[in-house]
Amino acid sequence: MQVIIRDDENSAANLTAAIIARRLCEKPDLVLGLATGRTMELVYARLAEMHRAGKLDFTHCRTFNLDEYIGLAPENVNSYRYYMNKHLFGKINIKMENTHLPDGVAIDLKKECLAYDQKIKDVGGINLQLLGIGESGHIGFNEPLSSLLSRTRDKTLTETTIAQNAPLFKSRDQVPRRALTMGIGNILESHTCLLLATGKRKAEIIAKAVEGPITSMVSASALQLHPHCHVILDEDAAGGLQETDYYKWIFRNEPDWQEFQDY
Ligand code: F6R
Repeated sequence: MQVIIRDDENSAANLTAAIIARRLCEKPDLVLGLATGRTMELVYARLAEMHRAGKLDFTHCRTFNLDEYIGLAPENVNSYRYYMNKHLFGKINIKMENTHLPDGVAIDLKKECLAYDQKIKDVGGINLQLLGIGESGHIGFNEPLSSLLSRTRDKTLTETTIAQNAPLFKSRDQVPRRALTMGIGNILESHTCLLLATGKRKAEIIAKAVEGPITSMVSASALQLHPHCHVILDEDAAGGLQETDYYKWIFRNEPDWQEFQDY
């Protein structure tokens, strides 16, 4: 795991977008794993800007989102399909048939989950997986006690997650209690993970996930097992970490990161 700390949420998001852009330029048929949430909005805005400026071509890119609420159809403004179309897919030249999210209104949810995992397998796996983190420690919607080997399946959301996401709904009662989510096993199989977290609200859970023990009580701590995982934070989200000077030294001095120093 490598921790990168930037001054504020804008530069953390800019760096995240720059890393994605770099990978897409190197591999135009990149298989990109995507997340939703407030943290990602800045990243998607940057990617859309780069596309508008003629610097990014998504023609051959394939995407797989981590999760979708059960019971919300794509037209529902709170569905993650709606979010992705609004913040990213509608603003870039990706082919809609190359974008995938679990279907939260599938009649047979178990079959849907198996089919989703199979689709990921069929394209050869995810090259770069973008992740946020919830205050419950979830990545995707892998709430506490999710198996560290789990695959795409349905999960019941914790009260913490419902409270975290309620401001995006008209009322708390409207937040679905269940979602389909890729499992931690799927996430660990992606070639590279990029976790972005910003703001003071994330400081405590980031400290547990990054410097605490690996435990299914904090799903994101499983990323410590991942061979290529970068955790990008702003100073606020990094506020609970012990070894910040060490992480900053590595970022400043590692040859691979030299081209990203200005973000
Ligand atoms: C959603 C997802 C979640 C969010 C997390 C953070 O697709 O994967 O794990 O990334 O809940 O959400 P925000 O950014 O709204 O704090």
